[in-house]
Amino acid sequence: MTTTPTAPPTDVADRATAGFRHRYGGEPAGRWAAPGRVNLIGEHTDYNEGFVLPFALPLRTVVAAAPRDDERWTVWSELDADPVEFGPAEADRPGRVTGWAAYVAGVVWALRAAGHRVPGARLAVASDVPVGSGLSSSAAVEAAVLAALVELGRLDLPTDRWPRLAQRAENDYVGAPTGIMDQSAVIRGRAGHALFLDCRTEDVQQIPFDLQAAGLAMLVVDSRAPHRHADGEYAARRKSCEQAAEALGVPALRDVDVADLDAALAKLPDDETRRRVRHVVTEDRRVLDTVALLRAGRVGDIGPLLTASHASMRDDFEITVPEVDTAVDAALAAGAYGARMTGGGFGGCVLALVDADRAQAVADAVTAAYAERGFAAPGTRTVLPAGGAARLD
Ligand code: GLA
Repeated sequence: MTTTPTAPPTDVADRATAGFRHRYGGEPAGRWAAPGRVNLIGEHTDYNEGFVLPFALPLRTVVAAAPRDDERWTVWSELDADPVEFGPAEADRPGRVTGWAAYVAGVVWALRAAGHRVPGARLAVASDVPVGSGLSSSAAVEAAVLAALVELGRLDLPTDRWPRLAQRAENDYVGAPTGIMDQSAVIRGRAGHALFLDCRTEDVQQIPFDLQAAGLAMLVVDSRAPHRHADGEYAARRKSCEQAAEALGVPALRDVDVADLDAALAKLPDDETRRRVRHVVTEDRRVLDTVALLRAGRVGDIGPLLTASHASMRDDFEITVPEVDTAVDAALAAGAYGARMTGGGFGGCVLALVDADRAQAVADAVTAAYAERGFAAPGTRTVLPAGGAARLD
């Protein structure tokens, strides 16, 4: 007799549950989800204590979890055949757990470092957020794991404190010197809204971002560009911003007003630093201008700000690569109202604001431009702002 193997479930929550049952036996106590994100505008402004305007994506990471009696954590992910297990000794020493499981260990570490009693747990992780595309797959894992552990351990930790904890997991355990944007977006995002975040005060305002009502669509193009030296370049940009703030005698570049930009630039030692500062200061302004337009219901008018942001990242901050520049140029030539790279840079995704009924034509134009340049075909999809981390069921 032959048996037909059952196909693995396609829904991400079902995959997490199936993974849990298969690895650990029994049923999870619950399932918690967190999304990926894109940033509408405000790039490399978060660690300069400025403004960002990201939104959460309808692509999610789901963690199925159950408590265990001892103080140990077992994590299985679709990315790997075997689970990873660690205890307090590994969780308390940043860097001891490596690879994808470091994001989980980092959350345990950050919670413990903040004085919380973290419950031992078995966790199974499934994700629809592509890894390495700049859509914050790591923040999605951090947020979903955090949501699971907070609830399983009945920890006294309001949601507005989650982003800093998840950021600490990434900064201090994994060792990536990122800002607060990604974790805020995936935790505090709301469907139909972009998240206007002041990265100094962590004040959040939900800005209605109704693309459909405006007859528009947001096309996300995965540039598929290999991330070239992204980590080192990110750290270098951050360092030069911090040095510039020090040279200008301000706590952070957020404190340089765009009206005083020329005077500030004149005080800086070299052209490269001047261009880095100009990007950050003008980008903060573009975020504020974008928010004002969205508040006025003028969604279609934000296009030029998106495109100006891209030019600033390309020419002043120097974080784009030929693939993303090609995608932006091709989208604009095909009629997009605006287009820009989103995220840390050196690859990742491009956003293009398009008429809803032109989305496919613009995607095709980008694909054709890629083929002409001999680049590997890009990924294309349209997205709407979705909700942040939450318990499922
Ligand atoms: C990455 C980081 C964020 C932010 C962006 C650039 O996504 O994780 O903190 O700095 O780059 O805006």
